[in-house]
Amino acid sequence: MSQPVFPELAGRRAFLTGGGTGIGLSIARALAAQGVAVALADIDGAAAERAAAEIGQGAVAIEVDVRKRASVESAFSAALERLGGCEIVIANAGVSTMQKALELTDEEWDFNFDVNTRGIFLTNQIAGRHLAGQGKGCIVNTASLAAKVGAPLLAHYSASKFAVLGWTQALARELAPQGIRVNAVCPGFVKTGMQSREIEWEASLRGISAEQVFNEYVAQTPLGRIETPEDVADVVVFLCSDSARFMTGQGINVTGGVYMT
Ligand SMILES: NC(=O)c1ccc[n+]([C@@H]2O[C@H](COP(=O)([O-])OP(=O)(O)OC[C@H]3O[C@@H](n4cnc5c(N)ncnc54)[C@H](O)[C@@H]3O)[C@@H](O)[C@H]2O)c1
Repeated sequence: MSQPVFPELAGRRAFLTGGGTGIGLSIARALAAQGVAVALADIDGAAAERAAAEIGQGAVAIEVDVRKRASVESAFSAALERLGGCEIVIANAGVSTMQKALELTDEEWDFNFDVNTRGIFLTNQIAGRHLAGQGKGCIVNTASLAAKVGAPLLAHYSASKFAVLGWTQALARELAPQGIRVNAVCPGFVKTGMQSREIEWEASLRGISAEQVFNEYVAQTPLGRIETPEDVADVVVFLCSDSARFMTGQGINVTGGVYMT
């Protein structure tokens, strides 16, 4: 998407978590290409700084740990101050670990829920109060294919992402009267650092090669290739645009057809 296709987005301001790398970085680039000024908030402050410098166009970097209320409050305040406002909130930060369900530890369960579920709750609530107060804006949460179907070796991650869709639907109903839309994207097998880590873990847990795992991902994908972060980012931009004005409470699959309902 090299040319702006949603001119109404130009001049809007976005708060985006997990923007230092992967899908978040692609979303930041795609929003910036539409003329949106983006605050990239990430626990990896150096990655956020590099990303903001690369993007330019008013992008700023902010360090945040989405697991902690005080950290999200101060990061969102910093974004408001540095961008001069906020109309778009992208809660994208997430983590995964892999383990057989019967071997899972409390620590793995808590880690996935703290970042993936509490992180979305805190980001949506704190930024949502601002959007509701001004009576305009939209929220897009990054859920997952694993929010629609339970994924083996990812039971805890799946549970944390199913929760994101429940939260997204309920919040969409609560904020609709204030004119705030709340949606989620559900990516499939996306080529990022998270995927590289998961391929190694899965290969080790199943006793097969990393190449076999990768080939299985592609074989499960009707459109026949691995997903790119840009595939997700373009849909997120659409959800932020006025073309999606009558969409709220949705969990949009962006999976190349891996999951179809
Ligand atoms: N890669 C995939 O196949 C895939 C599929 C479906 C959904 N997702 C989801 O997409 C989102 C982005 O994943 P990705 O693949 O780009 O992963 P990634 O590991 O490449 O990027 C995740 C980003 O989140 C940041 N982050 C992690 N913990 C944080 C915290 N506590 N506070 C703030 N930032 C934090 C990381 O520093 C990193 O920049 C996640 O929510 C993930 O669950 C990914």
